[in-house]
Order: sequence, then C-alpha cells, then structure tokens
Amino acid sequence: MNSRARILVVDDERGIRDLLCCELGDRGFEVVSAEDGEQALRKAAEGNFQLAISDVRMPKRDGLETLKALKEADPHIEVILATGHGTMEAAITAMRKGAYDFVLKPFDIEELSLLVEKALERRELLIHSERLNAVGMIAAGVAHELNNPLTGIMGLAQFLGAEPGLSPQSKDDLAAIVEQGKRCTRIVSDLLLFARRSPPKLEVIDVDAALDAALRFARYDGEAARVTVVRPASKAASRILGDAVGLQQVFLNLIVNAAHAMASSPVRRLEIERIEAERRMLLRFKDTGEGISEENLQRLFTPFFTTKPSGKGTGLGLSICRRIVGQHGGEIRVESRPGSGTTFTVELPCTDTIAEAPCRLQ
Ligand SMILES: Nc1ncnc2c1ncn2[C@@H]1O[C@H](COP(=O)(O)OP(=O)(O)OP(=O)(O)O)[C@@H](O)[C@H]1O
Ligand SMILES: [Mg+2]
Repeated sequence: MNSRARILVVDDERGIRDLLCCELGDRGFEVVSAEDGEQALRKAAEGNFQLAISDVRMPKRDGLETLKALKEADPHIEVILATGHGTMEAAITAMRKGAYDFVLKPFDIEELSLLVEKALERRELLIHSERLNAVGMIAAGVAHELNNPLTGIMGLAQFLGAEPGLSPQSKDDLAAIVEQGKRCTRIVSDLLLFARRSPPKLEVIDVDAALDAALRFARYDGEAARVTVVRPASKAASRILGDAVGLQQVFLNLIVNAAHAMASSPVRRLEIERIEAERRMLLRFKDTGEGISEENLQRLFTPFFTTKPSGKGTGLGLSICRRIVGQHGGEIRVESRPGSGTTFTVELPCTDTIAEAPCRLQ
C-alpha cells in the first residue's frame, strides 16, 4: 500500500541524496530530492509528499527548522531526521517537534526502509482515526439534533392519545408511535455515549446486567442471532466498580466477534463463564469458531487490524476493548488455535468494599 508513497529527501550532500533516491526508488517509492531546507519547502508546497527524510545540519535552514516548517504546511507529513553528529539532545528535540524518528549516518539502508514503512503506516493510521473521529462527531451531532424533534413527536402523540372519544385502533396506533419514539431515544442516547471520548465514569454496577444488555444488542447482528449462548446464571450480585456502557461495549464486541468467527462452523456455541477469584472477576467468552493463527494473535489488539472484508469491520473493536478494560484496571487476554475455537478472558478488579453497596441496574 505504501510502495508508491512520495518521499522528499533533503540533504546538502549530493552523494547522500543520490544514494537515497536510488535505494528507495528501487524499493518502489517515488523520491524527490532537495539540497537545502528552502528548496525542500518549495518542493513540498508543489508536490504531495507523505514523508521526508532530512539531514539535521544544513546551511540556511537546519533540519529542525525544516521539520517545523514542513509540519506546519502539512501536519500529516512524517519526517525522519538524519545526522552524522547524532546526539541524544538533537534526537529528543526532533521527536518533540514531531519527527517520527531519528537515524544516524552512515545509514543502514535496510533499517531506514523499515523505518520509512513504519512511519508511512503510522500516517495512514492517524489519518484513518481522524476520519473515524470526524464520523463519530457527526454521528453525535446528528443524534443531538434528533433529540428535540423526537421529544416533540412523543409528547404530541401522548397528548393526542389522551383525547376523549378516540377509537381503540387510534389509541393503539398512538401508543405504537410513543413506543417507537422511545426506541429512537434509546438509540440516540447510545450513539451519544458511544461518541463520548471522556474517561469512563466508574460506579458500582452489575456486570451481569451489562452482559444482558450486550446480549440484547447482539441480537441485531445477523450472525450473533444464530449463535447458541450459554451464559452464567445470575446468582449473587456481580458488582464491580465500572463503567456500564464501556463494559457493554467490550462484551458486545467479544460476542459479535465470536459470532462472526463461527459463521461457517458446524456448531455455533458461545459459552460465557463468570469466575470470581480473589478480588478479581474473570469473564470468559469461549467460542467454537475458526480460531486464530499464531501470526494474527500477535496483531489482534492493534488498531485497524482486521481480517474482515472492507466495510465489514474497522479493526477497532479489540483495541477499544483493551482501552476500556485497561481503564478499569483490568486486563484482556486471548487463547486460540486455528480450528479449535477461541477464548477471550476479561479480568476486572473487584473490591470487597463494594460488595454490599447498592448498585445501578440499567
Ligand atoms: N473470537 C474470535 N475468533 C477468531 N478471530 C477473532 C475473534 N475475535 C477477533 N478475531 C480476529 O481479530 C480481528 C480484530 O477484531 P476487532 O474486533 O478488533 O475488529 P473487527 O471485528 O475486525 O472489526 P470491528 O470490531 O471494528 O467491527 C478480527 O477481524 C478477527 O480476525
Ligand atoms: Mg470486532
């Protein structure tokens, strides 16, 4: 994906410029060179570059100034600084000013190309996540705007329903309008909560209730609706200090993921277990799906890692799960083998002090 990226090489030494143009060009990149910072900025303004590799010591404008100006002109450009007089101090300053990394001359060209690949990958990820944030903000804005008309619709339907002399049919129809309106309100508030970026609000919650809510939501997913779910019997209250909406989101993603992994399995069974160990609560989601290869296991929690076709999955689910569970002081782990199903374990801290506290049931 990155092989056709455009790279700007800035160095006052012709030998270095030629070397990089040739080596990176051979690796499929489109390389343009500049002999100083001024020229680099002019060329950057004309062409669309994804990355720049710049020398630190140059006449006129040094590498750090060039970095700053390049970033001002295009905040998405990744910059790798190169120097023959590498000092820790210069490296730290460069990183603070937004450089992706710092390399010492003479270059190890393999190492540099790897760095280039990684920098380009980061750029893609950042752009992608900004787009997602923008979508989230639009969704939140629309949800917010919908609140007022919805309140109006429901209020008026209730008002009409109270009119004397209405036929039973009209009464039923108006009640249906109110019921559907309530459903829309719930969807709108879920959307607003989902778009919320603030840290979770921890309160005493019932984990079983959060699991119930996730299972209810999961029914809207075609695959999940076909799965047999075995869930823990709600015995004693399963209270922890947590964020109910956040945990619902974690459970929902694990359930939907498992369902998708079982789409072509002969047995589609998801077993959810709740184990209370000392001051920890473990929730296990064990499926009979296709399992995960050793190679994919390493990348599972990386944002945007997905094996689903484009448009089916963003690959954000598990990284969001890890963030939410981490915010609870917990951990999420996975065990899997191709062909033998997968088990995700969510481990959450639970303190004795809240065992008797009243809890909020959603
Ligand atoms: N239970 C599972 N069994 C097999 N593979 C799984 C399971 N859960 C996750 N995976 C793999 O991990 C990948 C990443 O999961 P993640 O939830 O982060 O993203 P996604 O499901 O692909 O997309 P999104 O959740 O953003 O819609 C999935 O594409 C899938 O390959
Ligand atoms: Mg997912």
